Parts: sequence; C-alpha cells; structure tokens
Amino acid sequence: MQVAANPIAERISSISVSSTMKVAQEADKLRSEGVDVVDFGAGEPDFPTPDNIKKAAIRALDENFTKYTPAGGTTELKKAICERHKLDFATDYKPSECIVGVGGKHVIFNLTQALINPGDEVIIPVPYWVTYKDVVNYAGGTCVFVDTDESQGFTVSAAMIEKHLTPRTKMVIINSPSNPSGAVMDRGEFEKIFHLTSERGIYLMTDECYCKFLYDSEPYSIAALPGAKETVLVAGSLSKTYAMTGWRVGFGLVPQSVVGAMTKLQSHSTSNPTSICQKAAVEALRGPQESVTAMLAEYRKRRDFVVRRLREIPGVTCAEPRGAFYAYPNISVVLGKNGMADTLQFSERLLSEAQVAVVPGEAFGTNAHVRISYATSMHELERGLDRIHQFIVKNS
Ligand SMILES: Cc1ncc(COP(=O)(O)O)c(C=O)c1O
Repeated sequence: MQVAANPIAERISSISVSSTMKVAQEADKLRSEGVDVVDFGAGEPDFPTPDNIKKAAIRALDENFTKYTPAGGTTELKKAICERHKLDFATDYKPSECIVGVGGKHVIFNLTQALINPGDEVIIPVPYWVTYKDVVNYAGGTCVFVDTDESQGFTVSAAMIEKHLTPRTKMVIINSPSNPSGAVMDRGEFEKIFHLTSERGIYLMTDECYCKFLYDSEPYSIAALPGAKETVLVAGSLSKTYAMTGWRVGFGLVPQSVVGAMTKLQSHSTSNPTSICQKAAVEALRGPQESVTAMLAEYRKRRDFVVRRLREIPGVTCAEPRGAFYAYPNISVVLGKNGMADTLQFSERLLSEAQVAVVPGEAFGTNAHVRISYATSMHELERGLDRIHQFIVKNS
C-alpha cells in the first residue's frame, strides 16, 4: 500500500506537544527505572478527591446513572454551576448560559474554535498557560503577546492591554491567579480591561481555574460586573478547586449563542462529559466546601516555604506568588554556564543530575524562569529545594 508523503494534517503542525506533559513523561520514565525523582512538574493537587464527592460517584453507579446525558451537560449540573458561581461571586447566570465540558482545557479549546476566525488577534499576557497559544493557533488566529515585568510580580495592567488592541482584536485572555506565575489581577485594572474590551465588542476570556486559591485577597469574578455577560467568557474547572483533575469536568459561562456554537462542536466530538463525573461534580459544588479552605491553608504554608528557600539560593530571585500553587523563580544566574544555554537545558540537566523535575519557562513564553509546582508534600518540597540549591550553587 502506498503511504502518502505527508500523512499528518497541516493544522496539527500549528500546535506543539504540551511542554508540561513532556516533563511529566520524562520524570515518569526515570521513576519507572527506579530513580528517586522529586516531581515539581505536575500541575495538580496532591490531595485526594474529598470523600463526599467520591461517594456521589459511587451512588451514581449504583443508581445506573451510566448512560448518555445531553452533550453540553445535565441541567442539574448546569444549575449547580450557576448557583455556586452566584454564591461565590454574586453573578447571575442561567443554565442556558452554561456548558459543561471534559475539563477546563476542553472548554477553552471549544471556546476558541467556536469564536476565532483566521486572522483574528487574541491578546495573551506573558507568561501564559501553554494551551492558550496552541488553541488560538489551531483556530487560525494570531497570538498577540503582552510582556509583563517580573519586578511588578508579572501583573497585567489595562494600559498594557490597550497598547495591543487593533481592529482585528477578537479576544483578550486573562488568567488570574496565573499559571505559571501565581500573579493575581488587581481588581481595578481588571475592571478597566473589561471596559476597554466591552466598549469595543471584544471578548474577554477569564480563566478562573485557580479562582479559589488566593493568598492575599478575596476571590472575585469579573463576570459580576453589570453588562459583563455580553462579552465576558468564564472558563471554569473543578480540577484544582476540588482536587478532581482526573475526573475531567470544566464549564463555560458564556452568552447563549456561544453555548449553542460550542454544544454543536462538542456534540460531534466528545458528546457529554462522563455521566458519573457530572453527578460527582454536583456534589462538589453543592456539598460542604471545607476541603477547599483546608487545601488553601496548606498551599499557603508551602508557598511561604518555597519562596523563602528559593530566595536563599545565591543569585535566584522569585516574585511572590499571590495565588494558584506555582512559584516562578528566575534562574538566569546559571544560564550560559556549564553548557546550560536556556531553561530547557537547565531543566533537563536538573532532572538528569539532581533528579528534580521542573517546567522550563520557554513553555510559558519567558527565557529566564522555571515553574515549580508546590502542590506536593512539605517533605518532597524540602528534598527538592535542597537539591535545586546544591545544583545551582555548583553550576553558577
Ligand atoms: C490556567 C489553567 N486553565 C485551565 C486548566 C485546565 O484544567 P482542566 O482541564 O483539568 O480543567 C489548567 C490546568 O492546568 C490551567 O492551569
């Protein structure tokens, strides 16, 4: 049989393998060979899913809730999402403005595919979560990156966004708290960005994946502003808030026309999110919320420890993360030394010589940083930071 010269579709070449997954694979490989790896690469809570949520899934199985559901999620879950968002942020969404997807990533993928036309510009602050760039490229859009300043904690201002607006701007993506930097949007600046975008009919996507994990301020949603529902697109996820990364439940709170477009797309790809997981998600949103508070308290302790230990390493700087569970230290003190030209090479050498997995900053659009996830035990943090300290001192 003749094999075509270029068997892979062209649009696939517009995206790259998620770098966070590459590190996880390499760390996994070493571990399977018996190597004692400290893994700071994983972007997921180390806590188990709370018992009440697990029990709801078991109940769903016992009650044979195991069939197809509507493609965009059950009405019960959509109601629970709208109620939770209202309770937490005083928003006013109806189930018809809600879509449930197979994780927040799926929702963001479908949102961009449903809204971006070739040539449309999408404004993305740097450092960014890897996926934004690839899903915008996949839709044929153009990413317009906005640099932020490490000395300002990587925060984004309205003036910075305004400079990059053009008649082709279709969407601005804000992720607060940010993966990878932990930066949190100043509320006043976020409101100004909302006004800039809504006045021009530009979509403002707010990725609220880490919205409950804030250390110095109260959670809020830009979607609560009057008039926000027309242009604000909320991308939400249960993955981090309820330690449910493997369950794959995310949601969008978006205009009804956008729900329609996304549901059409979803109905021809994944169809509904898993029925059992939807029942578990209802319990997560309506049940006790103490586990979220307990996780936040633990993350705060770890954040303080990690930032202190990183700042003790000669030459390393680290902006204070104000949310999420990542630190984003500047390790330029070792770049250009001992054959480590960039953070990718640094990360490879750190893994092979000191057995610590981190994610190189190139994945997030900067070239002097690495991402450390502190969603792991204090014991692992101590071991890993000892190793990083020694490795950097030895090589700088
Ligand atoms: C900023 C951000 N948004 C969205 C997601 C999506 O998470 P999930 O697909 O597990 O809901 C992630 C996951 O790492 C993330 O870091």
